[in-house]
Amino acid sequence: MERSLSMELVRVTEAAALASARWMGRGKKMEADDAATSAMRDVFDTVPMKGTVVIGEGEMDEAPMLYIGEKLGTGYGPRVDVAVDPLEGTNIVASGGWNALAVLAVADHGNLLNAPDMYMDKIAVGPEAVGQIDINASVLDNLQAVARAKNKDVEDVVATILYRERHEHIIAQIREAGARIKLINDGDVAGAINTAFDHTGVDILFGSGGAPEGVIAAVALKSLGGEIQGRLLPQNEQELARCESMGLDCNKILRMDDLVTGDDAIFAATGVTDGELLRGVQFKSNFGLTHSVVMRAKSGTVRFIDGRHSLKKKPNLVMR
Ligand code: FBP
Repeated sequence: MERSLSMELVRVTEAAALASARWMGRGKKMEADDAATSAMRDVFDTVPMKGTVVIGEGEMDEAPMLYIGEKLGTGYGPRVDVAVDPLEGTNIVASGGWNALAVLAVADHGNLLNAPDMYMDKIAVGPEAVGQIDINASVLDNLQAVARAKNKDVEDVVATILYRERHEHIIAQIREAGARIKLINDGDVAGAINTAFDHTGVDILFGSGGAPEGVIAAVALKSLGGEIQGRLLPQNEQELARCESMGLDCNKILRMDDLVTGDDAIFAATGVTDGELLRGVQFKSNFGLTHSVVMRAKSGTVRFIDGRHSLKKKPNLVMR
């Protein structure tokens, strides 16, 4: 993949963030998601690549755009697989909450796990604790391993986890261990990535969330030198059958190379609402301001990008 593709991909997440940010706090998650999806789709048409959506908004008959199998890009350039989450955190935007992102990941064709839309059990850490965690180990063992790796006490470790009933037992075990917790209402892509940035104060992510989100987070963590492990969690016979038909073993621990093979992969995200890592979109009288991050696994380069978008010259970017 060309290095310059990174900048092109930031334009895509910027457009999605600008479009969906208009819906912040309006209580309309579907509208916010549609705005992000449609803006993302439009800009993808201008990106020089031969892309195919492998993680998207649904199957062809479920989603009008960014559906699995849809072709993206100008049709010239590298042949890549694309994972998109135009609005990661639809409820977050609807309620004006924290950490909503427009995100995507791109990798050489065949290198992203085509994760079905179901839950995945996850554990993620930043670079200092790579190789120390084990999704099969107890919560306490993992917390102690991270504490050792980061040269701190378990009491000083901060675990983040989606605030869900299904996580009550994990939350209880973290409390029992004496570690601190940052409960998040939504957005475990940001939760996973934050483990790799010291200033976010987050050391480890536990718990289950979307499997597609797990693959997207894996591309970011590969670029950042962090680690995520996952295991698919089918909830019924239908989901189990779906895994089987896709040749996916639900008992298998999915490691970095299972989630994203090789290192020719790019991750891009733009903040929609404020978060620990990225600022959300701000609208001024004539400008929309964006804050994005783009990373490339091959080089390990991480770029933060401030964008100032003229609402006069590009009104279509924001009003849909
Ligand atoms: P959406 O943007 O699709 O609403 O996803 C938000 C999210 O919180 C993800 O970050 C997470 O992986 C998943 O939902 C968790 O699912 P659930 O809300 O069912 O626990």
